[in-house]
Amino acid sequence: MKKVLIVNASKRRKGNSYALEKRVMEQLKGVAEATVLHIGEDAVNACLACDACKRQHTPNCIQKDIFTTLIPEIDSCDAMLILAPVHWDQFPAQLKAFLDRTYAFMDFTQKDLSIAGRKDKKVGGYFFCGFGPADVYTKMVETNLKNFATAGFTSVRAHVAGDVNAPGSIMEKPDELKVADEMTKWLLE
Ligand SMILES: Cc1cc2nc3c(=O)[nH]c(=O)nc-3n(C[C@H](O)[C@H](O)[C@H](O)COP(=O)(O)O)c2cc1C
Repeated sequence: MKKVLIVNASKRRKGNSYALEKRVMEQLKGVAEATVLHIGEDAVNACLACDACKRQHTPNCIQKDIFTTLIPEIDSCDAMLILAPVHWDQFPAQLKAFLDRTYAFMDFTQKDLSIAGRKDKKVGGYFFCGFGPADVYTKMVETNLKNFATAGFTSVRAHVAGDVNAPGSIMEKPDELKVADEMTKWLLE
């Protein structure tokens, strides 16, 4: 069974990321091994930029938080699905902290600068925004997701659902749910 890491970066427990997480988890039941990380609840600290990780030549971090605990899981999974809101045209702060911490996978002695155990992983980012422009945000999400290549996520897919400001309103948008279902399928291929 494929191992999928789901990173939910919303603070709204009744919001869109949580609603979609529920749907995805139902789809993954018996098909994939899923681990869920709620970084809206179990916060990931900011990167200290101390470069202690650069002296280790193995993905690690001196901070003791949920990110460090999950490094082996991030390294060994087949795919990661990020569910998150757009905040002020950008990644929400807690997700930016998560991305920054993947600096632990960067190693300057490697040709491709990455010390990830596997470099064939997929990352899908399904984001939500209240108003838009969703197409502009999709480019922003894609650009940011490409940085996960350092942690071995070299295939990227991004989507931003627009006009879903109300908590859980994604569930009333069949076209957007279809895109989400396709992303989940792609992650398992
Ligand atoms: C701090 C903050 C900033 C936001 N910035 C934007 C924005 O720049 N553009 C936008 O369209 N929606 C913005 N929104 C709306 C959220 O993206 C939207 O409500 C989304 O559906 C939330 O997803 P969630 O329910 O999974 O948390 C913002 C919401 C908050 C709380």
